[in-house]
Amino acid sequence: MDPIKNPFSPGAGSPPPELVGRDPVLEQARILFGRIKQKRSEKSMLLTGLRGVGKTVLLNEIERLAKKNGYQTILIEAHENKELARLIIPYLRGLLFDLGRHSPSEKVKRSLAVLHSFIGGIRLKANDMVIEDDITAEKGTADSGDLEVDLPNLFIAIGEAAEDLGIAIAILIDEIQYLNQKELGSLIMAMHKVQQLQLPLVLIGAGLPTLPGFAGESKTYAERLFSFPSIGALSKEDAERALQDPALAVGVAFEPTSLVEIYRLTQGYPYFLQEWAYHAWNRASDSVITLQDIQNATDTVIRSLDANFFRVRFDRLTPSEKNFLRAIAEPGPGSKRTGDIALALNVKANTLSPIRSSLIKKGMIYSPAYGDIAFTVPLFDEFMIREIPELKN
Ligand SMILES: Nc1ncnc2c1ncn2[C@@H]1O[C@H](COP(=O)(O)OP(=O)(O)O)[C@@H](O)[C@H]1O
Ligand SMILES: [Mg+2]
Repeated sequence: MDPIKNPFSPGAGSPPPELVGRDPVLEQARILFGRIKQKRSEKSMLLTGLRGVGKTVLLNEIERLAKKNGYQTILIEAHENKELARLIIPYLRGLLFDLGRHSPSEKVKRSLAVLHSFIGGIRLKANDMVIEDDITAEKGTADSGDLEVDLPNLFIAIGEAAEDLGIAIAILIDEIQYLNQKELGSLIMAMHKVQQLQLPLVLIGAGLPTLPGFAGESKTYAERLFSFPSIGALSKEDAERALQDPALAVGVAFEPTSLVEIYRLTQGYPYFLQEWAYHAWNRASDSVITLQDIQNATDTVIRSLDANFFRVRFDRLTPSEKNFLRAIAEPGPGSKRTGDIALALNVKANTLSPIRSSLIKKGMIYSPAYGDIAFTVPLFDEFMIREIPELKN
């Protein structure tokens, strides 16, 4: 069928033709935005789930919802090798300048001054950031160089500016698992202060299932300040809707048996649904997509998934990291004990700690429970076996 009319959209962050199964989370976000604007306290949100379940797409939708509710928003993506402070500063500056343009407010001016002392505090290199001459940093606020002190002060200043203007701000952070413990702790402290002062600022994050770095005090706060909706595979009913509705909208239908087969192959994981539907559509010869079309598309789908989804970040790994991942895949799907992996690799369990933590840091695996490890990507074990048929030890 005409690939130009193909409604399906496999790809990281590509908006699906229909966002199914996420109404409860969107409703929760709507309530959060409404309540914070009315100075009623409500938990901020951290969406967690494996890769390819639709966190980025949902975060973008939540940003649209925030805007619709009159929020000013910034959306950033955390990176493995970039500090949170460097990442967030240009966005906050943009936001504050915007606010300043709309209405001159002493509080906005002050928040810019605090932002500038914050920049000074983290000693950003001069060429990273241009500092306007007419803004003087507010000495003594947010410039201690300790993020856990400075970030809360900065958020307070920004929250007060927003309050002064009668607006609300939403800060959205994707890939939040890449923040280190200190950064995550600072964000939590900042939100703790913001909530105590009932300032109109919310934080929505998205990341892998176990957000590392929650420790000690910040853990207790985190549980009180955030809700953690888990974003997962779609139910059979939702998965079928995600396929059938967009097709019907352009006069095409999936045969019931083809839907059953796609669900079996994808287990309802959104990325895989889009990929199978996309290729089956291109294969189908008329306006009915059959079981045969799904089967004919499968080879292409697997090749496309290997190249575009499974291999993302994989090629940067060392051979021994790859072999460690291969060992996790050894006895089939599901989470594994570190001890079993040591056994499969024929080494002592404690020698695996560095490689294990490096793979967690790189977002390839996580620990669903103490001593367990699992892939952060669904169906990754099948990819590993395709990639490295024989485990080396
Ligand atoms: N609710 C949904 N229904 C159908 N497809 C979805 C849904 N959410 C996401 N997708 C599709 O899944 C793929 C991955 O989405 P993405 O947001 O990048 O996932 P993540 O950020 O969790 O890795 C995209 O192709 C997107 O179109
Ligand atoms: Mg994403």
